[in-house]
Amino acid sequence: MKISIIGSGYVGLVTGACLARANQNVTCIDIDKKKIEDLKNGKIPIYEPGLEELIREKVENNVLSFSSNIDQTIKNADVIFIAVGTPTNIDNDGVDLSQVFSCAEEIGKNIKNHTIVIIKSTVPVGTCDRVEEIIKLVNPTIDFDVVSNPEFLREGSAIFDFENPDRIIVGTKNKNSISALNSIYKKQIDNHFQIIFTTRRSSELIKYASNSMLAMRIIFINEIADLCEKVGADVQDIALGIGLDKRIGSEFLNAGPGFGGSCFPKDARALVESGENYNAPQNLLKAVIDGNEKRKKNLSQKIITIAKDKKNIGILGVTYKANTDDMREAPSLSIIPDLIDEGFNISIYDPQASKIGLKEFEKANWKTDIYSVAKNSDCLVILTEWVEFKNMDLKKISDIMNKPIIIDFRNLFSLNEMKKLKIEYHSIGREVVNFNKEIK
Ligand code: UGA
Repeated sequence: MKISIIGSGYVGLVTGACLARANQNVTCIDIDKKKIEDLKNGKIPIYEPGLEELIREKVENNVLSFSSNIDQTIKNADVIFIAVGTPTNIDNDGVDLSQVFSCAEEIGKNIKNHTIVIIKSTVPVGTCDRVEEIIKLVNPTIDFDVVSNPEFLREGSAIFDFENPDRIIVGTKNKNSISALNSIYKKQIDNHFQIIFTTRRSSELIKYASNSMLAMRIIFINEIADLCEKVGADVQDIALGIGLDKRIGSEFLNAGPGFGGSCFPKDARALVESGENYNAPQNLLKAVIDGNEKRKKNLSQKIITIAKDKKNIGILGVTYKANTDDMREAPSLSIIPDLIDEGFNISIYDPQASKIGLKEFEKANWKTDIYSVAKNSDCLVILTEWVEFKNMDLKKISDIMNKPIIIDFRNLFSLNEMKKLKIEYHSIGREVVNFNKEIK
C-alpha cells in the first residue's frame, strides 16, 4: 500500500515513522516547505525520544520520504491519513477545522482511484461526515471511503504507544477499509493488541471521552490532595489505596499542578462545546475545566505565601510534563507570570524548553543546570517531573542554598528522605517537612 500522511507535526511524523518501521511505504507531507527541507536533511522539528533515529533509519531504507507537493503525492496514494492541527477556535471553545477541510478539498481535487481517507486528527463528532461531503462535492464520481482512526499517543512515549497500543479504534463499516486497516496495523494485531471497529461517530467520540475521562481523574485527585493538606492525610497513600481497586485502576492518579498540553485542555473544551451543540450538556467536564484553571491560580498563591519574605525563586521545568519540549497550556505559563507580577526574580532551568521558553519568559534568567538555578534562589519550585530533577543531589542543593525551601508540585521525593535533610519541603497533598521548625 502507498500511504500519504498530510501534516508532518507530532502525530503525522510518529505515525509515518512507525508505519514505515512496519514495512509500509510512507510519504509525509506538509505545506511548510522549510519543515520538509529540514526533515529531508534529517532535522526533526519536535523533541520526541527515539523519533530522530527512527526517521533517519527509515529514510535510509527508502520506505519513508517527505514532500511539500500535496497534489502530486496524494494522486497515487492508496491510503491518505489526515494528521493536521485542530486548534481551539479563536472566538469560541469549538474546534477550528479549516486545515482538515482544506485537506478534504485537496483530496477531492487530486485522487484518481479508490482511496481510503483516514482521519487521525482529533475532530468533533460528525467531522468525518463533513469531510465525506466536501470530497463528494469537489469530485462527485470518485470512489473513496472516509475512516475515523484517532490517535492515543502520549508525548514523550509516542513511539511506544503507537507500537503497543491499549487499543486501536477504527470507525468504518466499509469492508474494503476494514481489511486495509487490519493490514496497516498487522504488526500490532499479530502482537495481540486489540483493534475495535465501530461507527465513525462512536470512534470520534471515543477519543474525546478518553481524554476527558483522564483529565477528570487528574482534577479529582488534585482536589483530594487539597483536602489531604487540610486534614493531614497523604494523597499518595490515597492514590495507592483507591488505585488497587481494579474497577478504578492506578494510572493517572498523580496529583500535580493541573493538566496541560495540546490535548486535554483543548479536547475537554471541545467536548463541552459538542455537548452544547447537541443539547446534551457535559456538566462534569465544565467543572473539570474550571477546576484546572483555578488550580494554577491557587498554586501561584501557595508559592507566594511560602516565599513571602524572599526575593528569588528558581523554577525547575516549564513544559507541561517531562520528556517533551512542548509548553502549550503548561501550568508554568500561568504560574510564572503571577510570580513575576508579585515582584519575585525568577531563574529557570528546563532540559528541553529553553528555545520556546526564552520567548515566553523574557524577564527570567535562564540557566543551564539545576545547581545554577539553586545558587540564585531562596526557594526552588519543581513544575515538571524530569528524571534529572528526581535524581538531583539534594545534599548539594541544601549546601548551595541558604535556608533552602523546595516546593515540589510533582511529589518527586519521599517524605522520609526529605526529613533527613536541612530543607524545608512542601509538596502536593502531603505533610510539610520543615527542618527549621523541627530543630527549634
Ligand atoms: C494525552 C493522552 O494521554 C494521549 O492518550 C492522547 O493521545 C493525547 O493526549 C492526545 O490527545 O494527543 P499527552 O497530552 O501527551 O497525552 O500527555 P499525558 O501524559 O496524558 O499528560 C497530560 C497532562 O496531565 C500533563 O500535564 C500531565 O502532567 C498531567 N498528568 C498526567 C497529571 O497531572 N497526573 C497524572 O497522573 C497524569
